[in-house]
Amino acid sequence: MLPTKAVIPVAGLGTRFLPATKVIPKEMLTVVDRPTIQYIVEEVVASGIKEVVLVTASGKSVIEDHFDYSFELETFLAQKGKMDLLNEVRHISRLIEVVSVRQKEPLGLGHAVNVTRQVIGDQPFVVCLGDDLVESEQPCVYQMLRVFEKYQESVVAVQEVPEEDVNRYGIAEGQEVEPSVFQVDRIVEKPQPGETSSRLAVIGRYVLRPEIFDCLDRTLPGIGGEIQLTDALDTLRKERKLYACKFQGNRFDAGDKLGYLQATVHLAMDHPDLGPAFKRYIKEIAEKL
Ligand code: UTP
Repeated sequence: MLPTKAVIPVAGLGTRFLPATKVIPKEMLTVVDRPTIQYIVEEVVASGIKEVVLVTASGKSVIEDHFDYSFELETFLAQKGKMDLLNEVRHISRLIEVVSVRQKEPLGLGHAVNVTRQVIGDQPFVVCLGDDLVESEQPCVYQMLRVFEKYQESVVAVQEVPEEDVNRYGIAEGQEVEPSVFQVDRIVEKPQPGETSSRLAVIGRYVLRPEIFDCLDRTLPGIGGEIQLTDALDTLRKERKLYACKFQGNRFDAGDKLGYLQATVHLAMDHPDLGPAFKRYIKEIAEKL
């Protein structure tokens, strides 16, 4: 059985991106021509997912509105004969069915995933972080679902990071069982220098079996006083197997100011309309550096 639902937690406070995120959720910040969250929803739709479960908090309703019909706007565009814009706006509201679950306090990513238990039930599901963008030929979630399909066990997405960045991520250790697929022996959140020799950093894409909910129930607050999904995954891999998929593609942390700028430049260069002119501009300024 393949997952049909993707959980996208968007209830965090986005403190790394203040003051931009004081009022506007970081998931609604524009990268080139659409909000970050739309790239993520487009990725899950392109991977065959039919329903999105948003984990929201106060001040985040604008995200739900973005994927809803806008009667006033659609009527206005239709009356003005602006059919291209109308189609674009309709495309967004028809992308996916959205269900929202409220996380009443930002107690961590693990807690955010755990509040979706009633909606997910006893089936595997996908989790995509609302601020992690992956640019790839085959959608990252699609690549992970192929691994899940084969092994029928939970899968995390990993990328190799330089040694000096290891302490910023959840790090997976394991054996490569086929090219780019690892069976995880241990997973540790933000390890101290010398605590691990692995450089496989877990990024914001997961395919999870429903047993993760029981593991989350037993997970105590960890680093930063938050309920860490990484800690629950380490319990899960002891009780069942856990795989890591080294996906093909570029990942950007759009919840971080530098990562956001990098995502903007990369995606603008690859944009079908803007790309050629933007690349010329980048070349021009690069020559002046
Ligand atoms: P982050 O740690 O990147 O998000 O969590 P944050 O807490 O909003 O950001 P900073 O560190 O303060 O800048 C990754 C994802 O998990 C969600 C966030 O919205 C983000 O998409 N999240 C995090 C929740 O939904 N609930 C939480 O309690 C924590």
